Amino acid sequence: MKIGVLCSGGDSPGMNAAIRGAVLRGVDVHGFEMLGFMDGWRGFHDGDTVPLDRAAVRGISPLGGVILGTSRVQPFSAKDGTDADFRAIRRRMAEFGLDGFLLIGGNGTQTVAKLLSDAGIRAIGLPKTIDNDLGGTDYTFGFDTAVSIAAEAIDRLRTTGDSHRRCMVLEVMGRDAGWIALHSGMAGGAQVMLLPEFPESAEQIGEWVLSVRDRGRSSLVVVAEGFRLAGDSDQTVRAGLDGFGRPRLGGIAEVLAPIIEQRTGIETRATVLGHTQRGGSPTAFDRVLATRTGMAAADAAEAGEWGRLAGLRGDRIEMVDLSEAVGHLKTVPADRYEQVRLNFG
Ligand code: F6P
Repeated sequence: MKIGVLCSGGDSPGMNAAIRGAVLRGVDVHGFEMLGFMDGWRGFHDGDTVPLDRAAVRGISPLGGVILGTSRVQPFSAKDGTDADFRAIRRRMAEFGLDGFLLIGGNGTQTVAKLLSDAGIRAIGLPKTIDNDLGGTDYTFGFDTAVSIAAEAIDRLRTTGDSHRRCMVLEVMGRDAGWIALHSGMAGGAQVMLLPEFPESAEQIGEWVLSVRDRGRSSLVVVAEGFRLAGDSDQTVRAGLDGFGRPRLGGIAEVLAPIIEQRTGIETRATVLGHTQRGGSPTAFDRVLATRTGMAAADAAEAGEWGRLAGLRGDRIEMVDLSEAVGHLKTVPADRYEQVRLNFG
């Protein structure tokens, strides 16, 4: 069997470990031939490939980024793919001698995997994204690394904030899901965590910050990039669209900091963590999760379990239907937010 491997969407720590896991299992155990496509679907369209054998994946698990590169180039000419698109993909697969794909990606990529599967093209999904917003899996690989980096940033901001008795606002990624903000905020003991799922008023945020000051402490506010103040209909965006045509989120910390300062009289500083959350070496947790995911995906290909996603369920990797992963975002549920909100301030 010959399997194509490609990565799509933003990079996410652990992608290299997933490729390595798939190759160790696919090539060494099942005797597959595996072909990597450079920069996602761009490599598929342009014929930019690299053979994936054991030597190609030697020592890559600790590496940040991804050896194959990734992009948001789409395989289709229209959003859901036309008959002509599917025919063209089948033709191209035949040229490469491919039997199926392992697709490493988040929501957009797994939606493509589902569309391909529905059209009879063999695909298996490997769930990655620092945002952790994909259904069908308890955690996506990359999330743990992003949370660790954000938690470290909170620890660092706290010491300088305490020294100056300032309120420090840290903006983290996550698009429309507040998982990174929630988990890093819990890990770092943030006094306020602002998530896209739960708008709060400027008045309420000011009250929390003042009550922290009244206890003799300085506030650390972690805010997810997709957060909106109550009553605001729009998120804070940067110029331009991403490769999926979505607005680029970011900048809410710089909006909030002067609002907090003006309401409380406390000097406030904003930090936008940005892409440091996606860079560098993955945590051991992400390496293990990604390796197990890659291995399970190769096993599923051998077993003919196409059209599925290698998801983490409890402590097991299970093959779940792709329809569980796509079509909706896995956002932070109200009970998780309420649990922390009771202690804000
Ligand atoms: O989806 C992952 C993610 O890092 C989001 O958290 C963030 O909004 C976006 O990608 C940033 O994308 P880009 O790398 O295109 O700026």
